[in-house]
Amino acid sequence: MFNKRIKIKQLVATEQTGDEVTVMGWVRTFRNNQFIALNDGSTNNNLQVVVELGLLDEAILKRITTGASLKVTGEVVPSLGKGQKIELKAKNVEILGDSDADKYPLQPKKHSLEFLREKAHLRFRTNTFGSVFRVRHLLAFAIHKFFNDRGFIYLHTPIITASDAEGAGEMFRVTTLPFDNPPRSQDGSIDFKEDFFGKSTNLTVSGQLEGELGAMAFSEVYTFGPTFRAENSNTTRHLAEFWMIEPEMAFCDIEDNMNLAEEFMKYLIQYVMDNNRDDIEFLDQRLAEEEKQKPANERSEFGLIEKLQFVINNNFERITYTDAITILLESPAYKKKKFKYDVNWGIDLQSEHERYLVEKHFKKPVIVTGYPKEIKAFYMKQNEDGKTVAAMDILAPGIGEIVGGSQREENLEKLEQRMREMHLPVEEMSWYLDTRRFGTVPHAGFGLGFERMVQFVTGMTNIRDVIAFARTPKNCEF
Ligand code: 4AD
Ligand code: MG
Repeated sequence: MFNKRIKIKQLVATEQTGDEVTVMGWVRTFRNNQFIALNDGSTNNNLQVVVELGLLDEAILKRITTGASLKVTGEVVPSLGKGQKIELKAKNVEILGDSDADKYPLQPKKHSLEFLREKAHLRFRTNTFGSVFRVRHLLAFAIHKFFNDRGFIYLHTPIITASDAEGAGEMFRVTTLPFDNPPRSQDGSIDFKEDFFGKSTNLTVSGQLEGELGAMAFSEVYTFGPTFRAENSNTTRHLAEFWMIEPEMAFCDIEDNMNLAEEFMKYLIQYVMDNNRDDIEFLDQRLAEEEKQKPANERSEFGLIEKLQFVINNNFERITYTDAITILLESPAYKKKKFKYDVNWGIDLQSEHERYLVEKHFKKPVIVTGYPKEIKAFYMKQNEDGKTVAAMDILAPGIGEIVGGSQREENLEKLEQRMREMHLPVEEMSWYLDTRRFGTVPHAGFGLGFERMVQFVTGMTNIRDVIAFARTPKNCEF
């Protein structure tokens, strides 16, 4: 019975009338006891169902309320109303599930994004979140297509690990030890030998290290999975649980890496523009409305579609970290003391610095290379100057850092030495170092933060609005 229905997206796109069809969906609005706007999540374009006077009992009409689910069979007829070519003249309306109009949280009016965040279990039923999550889906699909078409192997790297891939110590611990009375070693420290895995374990912050192992056999791999960071950052760009895409390529240097990352980002944008224009147009409108609420000097110069088109059509700017520092030091913002954080060679670029470079100075995505080794992870290839590493970050307008990557140090001695300097457990990571012991090759890779990419493509300002159920400090609802 259920598979006989037609999806609303397909139906509203047709111009053919006269057929009898069955649709199912949820009521968005019901006007004049006559016009139902029905939505099944396949598109924001609701189907107009017309219920002629006298077709349904008063008792049934009363149950057609916002949020109720219906099965409607009827005839496809030309629409007299504006905004749609066809509508459905109902022959039979069955209420599948009632929705108490007084209690249903999504009233047929505009709700704020903040309000909808509290009702995240229902927000998929709104136009904004319908569009965002269809675009998110399409991006995920395009990612697999991009890599599959280029012969990359999708490697499922582990979620639970015993290593800190980024060495930043921002990990969520995984344990089955009792909190109140954990087993202790002689020196009083917790004895993780007694723990489930016989050692201290955590949720992964990145699949890169395991990705490197794969690249040393398949040449080119990618991971695409959830990663976890216990950084206490309550910003519009940080999640404690986010998804990351990490390609890793053997026989590849920093230059090839940058080229692939740029091609990849452009491909994803183009793919969504080509395959889901409807939702991008809706999101473009939505952003334009949001921008109107802002004071004129804070509005962005570009609309969403203009921005996406611009990114596809122009090369990303490529500069060194050293040049970036010079630009910042010479900027009016620095001279007028507009930056909260100081600028000098050696700092980790703050989000205000990244945004200055991208939004004010270059006005396009920027790839920064050659960062000081002190602020980057142990595995990055050390440059000849002894000070910098072959790192590359891509900074995007409105987002800041969207990609982080590097060429990897393939020389065993140099890598071991760097690990010792950084007090990393060289012996425990012997498995990783085996890649450098047996057939080491120049290799490189990067990580694209999936939610930041979804933000970029949808124009959503807050990262909490592009993941189904956000995990952020002090918040783990649903
Ligand atoms: O720069 P990151 O930390 O790089 C890595 O994890 C490397 N292992 C990647 C690699 O070379 N294979 O993170 C990569 C990207 C960032 O540029 C950002 O887009 C995203 O992941 N990211 C976050 N996104 C949301 N919330 C957070 N807390 C994020 N932390 C990083
Ligand atoms: Mg980074």
